Amino acid sequence: MIKKINQIIKKKSFKKIVCLTAYSKNISKILDKHCDITLVGDSLANVLYGMKNTHSISLSTIIEHSISVKKGIKKSLMVVDMPKGSYQNPLQAKRNAKLIVKKTKCDAVKIESNNKNFKIIKEIIKANIPVMGHIGYTPQFKNNFKVEGKNKKEIKRLIGEAKSIERAGAFSIVLECLTPDTAKIITNLLRIPTIGIGSSSYCDGQILVTDDMLGLSGFYPKFVKKYINLNSLIEKAVKKYSKDVKAKRFPNNKNFLYGK
Ligand code: KIV
Repeated sequence: MIKKINQIIKKKSFKKIVCLTAYSKNISKILDKHCDITLVGDSLANVLYGMKNTHSISLSTIIEHSISVKKGIKKSLMVVDMPKGSYQNPLQAKRNAKLIVKKTKCDAVKIESNNKNFKIIKEIIKANIPVMGHIGYTPQFKNNFKVEGKNKKEIKRLIGEAKSIERAGAFSIVLECLTPDTAKIITNLLRIPTIGIGSSSYCDGQILVTDDMLGLSGFYPKFVKKYINLNSLIEKAVKKYSKDVKAKRFPNNKNFLYGK
């Protein structure tokens, strides 16, 4: 686990860090071949469960999906998002982080910052569990989407937050929806790698929600590049299947288990 973490840290500044989200084994098995980090994001609340935000996804649901994701992972660093409400104080955070690691065998957990919970990060790390931080647009604590770092006051606050997370011992930090200049300043100031989402190529690595970049989720903000339109490919296949079943073309002789 520590070896994998050190490999990620070492990449800073000279090799981009590739990260994507996974919620199940079939997807993590594919990502694992090409990603440095596989994140079981609490975005699964919106993406898979159709919830309006990430606020009520439970710890047990995240754990169940992570157990599935782990089955597809051989080499990438597996990080699990701690859901809202599971790290309200150091004791609870440590207990739940230990539970996540025990049940899922993941390598690290991710904590969204509210610019106050640095002690919580410290406590989890004291229990030998690596932590990834997350600043900027943090959906667990902010209801309205907004690009951050547009003025001096915000930049100062974000720098302070990022530095405190580094000081608390995090091994990397997600920068979500920061202005390119702010992402650049923070990336240059920190020793740990920054992982950007909607925060420009100045970051040390990039992450996207896999369902978004595959064209499956229906959520495509400007910072998402859709690499394929899986929705329409799946629909085409389903339409063909439906036609075949109705026309009695499926199953045919080749699909019978017994007989000729
Ligand atoms: O929940 C998630 O998928 C995330 C990434 C977008 C960073 O936190």
